[in-house]
Amino acid sequence: MRDLKNAGKYYWHYLKKYWFGFLVTAILIGISTACIVIAPTYLGRAVSELTTYLQQWTNTATRGDANLGSFHKTLWVYLALYLGDASTLFIASMILARITAYSTGTMRVGLFRKMQRMQVQYFDSHSDGDILARYTSDLDNIFNAMNQALIEIFLSVAQFIGILIVMFDQNVTMAWVTMGSTPVALIIAAVVMKKAGVAVNHQQDDIGKMNGYINEQVTAQKVIITNGLQKDSIAGFRKHNQKVRKSAMSGQIWSGVLNPLMQGMSLLNTAIVIFFGSWFALNGTLSTGAALALVVVFVNYAQQYYQPIMSLTSLYGMIQLAITGARRVDEVRSQPDEVQPAEGKSLAGIKDELQIDDVHFSYLPGKEILHGVSISVHKGEMVALVGPTGSGKTTVMNLLNRFYDVDSGGITIDGTDIREFSLKELRKNVGIVLQDPQLFSGTIADNIRFGDPDASMERVIDAAKQANIHEFIASLPKGYETEVSDEQSIFSAGQKQLMSIARTILTNPQLLILDEATSNVDTVTEANIQAAMDRVIQGRTSFVIAHRLKTILNADKIVVLKDGAIIEQGNHDKLLAEDGFYAGLYRNQMVTD
Ligand SMILES: Nc1ncnc2c1ncn2[C@@H]1O[C@H](COP(=O)(O)OP(=O)(O)OP(=O)(O)O)[C@@H](O)[C@H]1O
Ligand SMILES: [Mg+2]
Repeated sequence: MRDLKNAGKYYWHYLKKYWFGFLVTAILIGISTACIVIAPTYLGRAVSELTTYLQQWTNTATRGDANLGSFHKTLWVYLALYLGDASTLFIASMILARITAYSTGTMRVGLFRKMQRMQVQYFDSHSDGDILARYTSDLDNIFNAMNQALIEIFLSVAQFIGILIVMFDQNVTMAWVTMGSTPVALIIAAVVMKKAGVAVNHQQDDIGKMNGYINEQVTAQKVIITNGLQKDSIAGFRKHNQKVRKSAMSGQIWSGVLNPLMQGMSLLNTAIVIFFGSWFALNGTLSTGAALALVVVFVNYAQQYYQPIMSLTSLYGMIQLAITGARRVDEVRSQPDEVQPAEGKSLAGIKDELQIDDVHFSYLPGKEILHGVSISVHKGEMVALVGPTGSGKTTVMNLLNRFYDVDSGGITIDGTDIREFSLKELRKNVGIVLQDPQLFSGTIADNIRFGDPDASMERVIDAAKQANIHEFIASLPKGYETEVSDEQSIFSAGQKQLMSIARTILTNPQLLILDEATSNVDTVTEANIQAAMDRVIQGRTSFVIAHRLKTILNADKIVVLKDGAIIEQGNHDKLLAEDGFYAGLYRNQMVTD
């Protein structure tokens, strides 16, 4: 039931502005249904008029009076009714098609826009494949249902109302008898729908998980091959596939069983109508002929009464998928946006000092990662963060850019908490080169320009030169126009990192955060990265998560993190003299270098 509520909320959000279109559709469908209901009576009249005409015409005494005038008139009305039915139905389906196209377009864009506003946490805590499934199969299910089921829903409701009116108009008692089995049908439908809903929910969630698995396996293909894990990979997939198959099957069975059950109810209902109808005929005040006619008419109505219910239930599988789809998409839609102050302060660089003050932070409640970290950096200084893997270095960076917010303590720029700045202002001032650099589809030039879409080609080349990647790019056959899309893998990790350094240079940030790639790069690229970093860092305030000795040596301050706490802090000489973790690290690297 909660699903239905959430789905309803979702559709309401996107469809409410088309209320006029829906109203017109409802009226048109009403007219169309009225035409269909009335048309047969004119056919009956036409037949009787034709019979009268033939009787008059065959009799020589009355032949003079015979004329086809009224027959023709009735026939025209009959034709007009059918035309009315067809044309109103056509216009109604056109309107619905338009509403569907527009609203589903907005839903797609809405979901995409939402992605750009959501907190980083959502992406960190959901698999890419599952998120992708919401954009693909869930939205598709919503579209399919709107395309095919929407008009059917309108028609069924109109038919249902139509048949109710006709039945009560004919005979109130018999109308009640015909409707008598409805509560039973409703109870059966509710039970089956509940079962089907649960199954289809599982199905879509399992599909999301399977997509997550496929996504992960495709990305990790090389790891799978080098470790000879092909069989395990397939076995893992089989497990997911089996789950999807099971839940899909039970979803199909429960959705599919509803229609036959309603057919059974319809038959049962017909029997009830015949039974009570005959009983009234025998015990009532009506003449036998009239009573029998009533029974025949109501047998017909009884079938028509169940018709809309049956056509809705035959679409039930599709509708249930759409309800589940809406639930899953609405889950994304109702995720919290990134928090920012209503009137964010603007930020024009660091004038004096950036301070990280006694910061405690946890990604998951109860599992604290940073335990009271304090670092201060003055304008133009460079801080090197070192420490074993998992010690929380990247986490500190995540907080500086407000990918996440601190649990307690605070980060201030010139005394102002960073949560008081508008996010846009903050991020304009903070440039980040991530640990795992990302390239986008497009040319290399586009990729560098990502930092500043309006940048001229000269500036792009200049940034590439500063990042020490210009010569490599120039050596490619197509140079800056090389398409990155399918060829991400032709670039080495170091080259990708250099390109993202160039991208960051273009934004000319005040505070620079570099999460050095841990992956091994060749010595030439390593020297290139080092030179690029030196150049980029110059004159800027910077945090560098450093693995390379040279970077660390250059730092104004070295901060050693271990298990989320600072264990050493100071410059190179001081830390060396302390003969702690850093001294060990230094001696280690001296040997390997
Ligand atoms: N999104 C997340 N959700 C939950 N825990 C996380 C998340 N990201 C990181 N962690 C945990 O936080 C801790 C610190 O991770 P972090 O990425 O900051 O380490 P790091 O010092 O950058 O390591 P490396 O040198 O390997 O890059 C780790 O124990 C990690 O498991
Ligand atoms: Mg890291």
